[in-house]
Amino acid sequence: MKFFQNHRRLFGAVLGLFLGLTLAVAIIPALRNQANYAPLPGSVPLSPDEFAGKKLYIANGCVACHTQQVRNVAMDKVWGARPSIAADYAGITRTSWWQNTATLMGTERTGPDLTTIGSRQPSSAWHLMHLYNPRAVIPASIMPAYPWLFEQKASPAPGEVIVNVPDAYKRGPGQIVATKDALQLVAYLLSLQQTPLPDGSAPDFLYQRTSASAAVGAEAAAAGPPVAWDGGALYAANCQACHQPNGEGLKGAFPPLKGSTIVLDDSPARMIAIIMQGYNAREKEGYPAMPPIGVTNNLRPEAIHAIINHERSSWGNAARPVSLGEVEEIIQSLTP
Ligand code: HEC
Ligand code: HEC
Repeated sequence: MKFFQNHRRLFGAVLGLFLGLTLAVAIIPALRNQANYAPLPGSVPLSPDEFAGKKLYIANGCVACHTQQVRNVAMDKVWGARPSIAADYAGITRTSWWQNTATLMGTERTGPDLTTIGSRQPSSAWHLMHLYNPRAVIPASIMPAYPWLFEQKASPAPGEVIVNVPDAYKRGPGQIVATKDALQLVAYLLSLQQTPLPDGSAPDFLYQRTSASAAVGAEAAAAGPPVAWDGGALYAANCQACHQPNGEGLKGAFPPLKGSTIVLDDSPARMIAIIMQGYNAREKEGYPAMPPIGVTNNLRPEAIHAIINHERSSWGNAARPVSLGEVEEIIQSLTP
């Protein structure tokens, strides 16, 4: 056959086929994707500091253990109000001119998903202490410590961010000061939040579990399935990272709830205000601000009721149980 003996024709045909297929299966679909997917209205691009923090997240290998994708299966419901969609990643730009676009979706979830860590854990004081040594706040944590993001100084300059690490975790005398890197990395973590869909809907997850006992902690708090509200599990999911499992807090960082006059007060009003509006009355004692966990974690009155009664009756605390009606009334009075 003449065709197979003419190298020009043979090569030309192969090249044409190759270019045509490349256009059809790679380039045109990619262009269509780029045209179809835009960041959601209301999504905020990273600030320069947050972007620098993202590079530190990459440099320190955080993606090895943390995902940033809420899969569309019910078991991922704890990590976000809705499954992640392509538009969530559409605003991501190249890391630098020679590094590709890092979505950091991850494939390995040794630690929790971080898609919504900025709203789930909005306290920068907590993040700094956790990065310095995860064991300081979560005794059983297997996450590595990142001490090189901090400096130890005998007398920190004014304006420097001091991290009130318990002495047992310090490496020698002096105070722990966060470096710019640490602050940028935390700025990036706090920027991680889910943008609500423009129509306000929250698509349901696939494969919902129906057994009541399966839903505890944040999942129950957010979705409110018909379960008995378990104060202990809700405390573990929402308060324990700071106030600790034994309710004793961490000296100089998070105050104890065991024996706290606010917890033991006959009226739960002050405590509910703290949960819903945050709290920063004890700065002089070195305590950072408590974020409005009830709002950031979307806690329903039933969840707050269960948590309060758990705290009022644990670790030796013995205050009278409060009723759901009381809690609802106080929450009502707080919302303008
Ligand atoms: C070897 C695996 C591993 C690596 C690497 C790792 N982590 Fe973790 N991370 C964990 C585990 C396990 C937990 C859960 C226990 C805890 O909170 O410490 C966790 C928890 C967290 C949490 C709290 C999540 C929550 O829902 O409360 C944050 C934030 C976090 N890691 C950030 C980071 C950052 C930032 C880096 C990189 C500097 C990093 N992690 C590197 C394993 C890892
Ligand atoms: C990110 C860390 C953090 C989380 C999570 C957290 N708190 Fe706090 N909490 C604090 C800090 C810090 C203070 C002290 C704030 C101040 O006064 O400056 C505090 C103070 C309090 C106080 C006042 C205690 C006293 O005697 O002064 C109560 C009550 C309280 N928290 C309840 C809760 C409950 C209930 C939850 C869970 C729904 C919770 N906290 C979750 C950090 C946290």
